[in-house]
Order: sequence, then structure tokens, then C-alpha cells
Amino acid sequence: MSIAGRTAVITGAASGQGRATARLLAEKGARVAALDIDEAGAASLAEEIEQAGGRALALPVDVSDPGAVTAAFAESADRLGPAYILAAAAAVFPEPCYSFLRPLEDTARVLAVNLLGAVHCADEAARQMVDAGQGGRMVLWSSIGAGSVIDGHAAYCAGKAGIEGLTRALAAELGRYGITVNAVAPGAIDTPMITPPGPDYYQRVPAGRIGQPEEAARLVGFLCTEATEFLTGAVLALDGGLSGVNAAILPSPPDL
Ligand SMILES: NC(=O)c1ccc[n+]([C@@H]2O[C@H](COP(=O)([O-])OP(=O)(O)OC[C@H]3O[C@@H](n4cnc5c(N)ncnc54)[C@H](O)[C@@H]3O)[C@@H](O)[C@H]2O)c1
Repeated sequence: MSIAGRTAVITGAASGQGRATARLLAEKGARVAALDIDEAGAASLAEEIEQAGGRALALPVDVSDPGAVTAAFAESADRLGPAYILAAAAAVFPEPCYSFLRPLEDTARVLAVNLLGAVHCADEAARQMVDAGQGGRMVLWSSIGAGSVIDGHAAYCAGKAGIEGLTRALAAELGRYGITVNAVAPGAIDTPMITPPGPDYYQRVPAGRIGQPEEAARLVGFLCTEATEFLTGAVLALDGGLSGVNAAILPSPPDL
């Protein structure tokens, strides 16, 4: 199945990895529904894609609001056709909270956007994919924080661990419809979400650098090709090797 002519719904499309993914899928000929709480950012992306000869629609939405998500998916299907691709990048990464999960409303907000937001979007996308009967591709965004602690970010880590469980469960439920569901789990990626890490990070990460949003976009693009029809329920680390090093708790390697 080619991506050209398909509809791709991308959340968090105004910025960073979602924006890079939207650009790449549009270059491959997908019609792009750009969902984001940042109305101006989504609009500028849609304008950029249309000026380059593509088709795109900006849909301002808070993914934590199920009614707004339903309305956005309905408008997208009306104007662009049913979703074949869902790339769900929208998330927040608030200031660290070192007092466990307090205040509770902040924790609830992180989970509502990062985990329930993906649930709402996956639900709407699955319905459109199943009804269209042509299969589909879902890519959810986890994080290195799902498998190892990001200090002070309990809610974020919990939400991303939830994304990985959701990915496996949806893959199991939707496989019979020809829909694959995978997650990407980035380490530090150079987007507005993070402040650039210090020298320690560069020493620990085998690749010796942080990632670029276009690298996430290329991985998502690959997950939407026919080469990956048998790849589902997987969480793919995109972290320059950092999670492997963390898991092994390696001492400093000897000089060769
Ligand atoms: N940048 C990193 O180092 C990094 C590392 C691990 C995981 N991630 C994950 O990658 C994904 C993409 O993040 P990014 O790095 O591109 O960050 P980003 O901040 O550039 O993009 C996030 C986008 O989500 C949107 N968003 C936030 N809340 C929303 C809401 N309620 N409804 C709709 N849209 C909303 C923002 O407006 C923004 O456009 C996220 O899921 C993030 O958790 C990022």
C-alpha cells in the first residue's frame, strides 16, 4: 500500500516531531489533517504543505477533550477522506514535580493529554480504518521515560508507560483488520519540548548526540510502508542507543 493519496491524521502537528512527520508524509503524497492545540502553528504547517502543492487541513483541538477529538476526526474524514494513518505525537512535558504526584490536578492533566489524548485519537482513527476496510497504520509516541525514570516527571513517565501498553493492546485487537499499531520511544530529540541536555548526556549516549525531529519522521514514514506489514505491537527506541546503556548499567568502557 502506498502512502500517496491516503489520509494521515497527525496530532501535535504544529511543532517538533509531529510537524516533521506531517511534512514527510505530505511529501510522499498523503493528505494531512494537522491536529494541535496550537491553532496558529497547525495553520502555518497546513499553509506550508499546500504552498508546496500538497493537501492539508489545520484542525485546532485539545486532544484531552473527547468531544473535540470526535468533531475533528469527523471534519477530517469529510474533507480529506477516512484516516489510513494516525501519528499521535501530541503531548506535554511540564516542569518537573519533585513532590511525588502533587498537585494532583497537574498529574491528571498530563495523563489526560499524553495518555487519554492518544486513546481518544486511536479510538476515532480505528473506527474510520475499520469502516473503510483498507487496513491502516497507527504510530503512538512513547518516550525513554516509559522504561527508565526521568527525575521529577512521574506523571509523564506513567503516561508514556501507558502508551506502550496501549500500543500492544491495540495491535492485538486491530490486527484482524489489517491495522498495525506501533510506538516510537525517543530519547532526547531537538524540539521545543526539551531544554538541551548537559555534557553528561552526550557522554552516556552511544550516538554521542541528540536526535532530530526529521529522524522520528523517517521512522514513522517507514512504519507506514508496505515493508512493515508484519511489524505490529512493537516499541521502537529512537534514542541513539541510550536505553540499552541504561538497562545494562555499564561501567565506563576501557580504552581500546
Ligand atoms: N523532544 C524530546 O526529547 C522527546 C523525548 C521523548 C518523547 N517525546 C515525545 O515526542 C512527542 C512529540 O514531541 P515533540 O518533541 O515534537 O515536542 P513539541 O513540544 O515540539 O510538540 C508537541 C506538540 O503537541 C501539541 N500539544 C500539546 N498539548 C496538546 C493538546 N492538549 N492537544 C493537542 N496538541 C497538543 C503542542 O502544541 C505541540 O505542537 C511527544 O509525545 C513527546 O512526549 C519527545
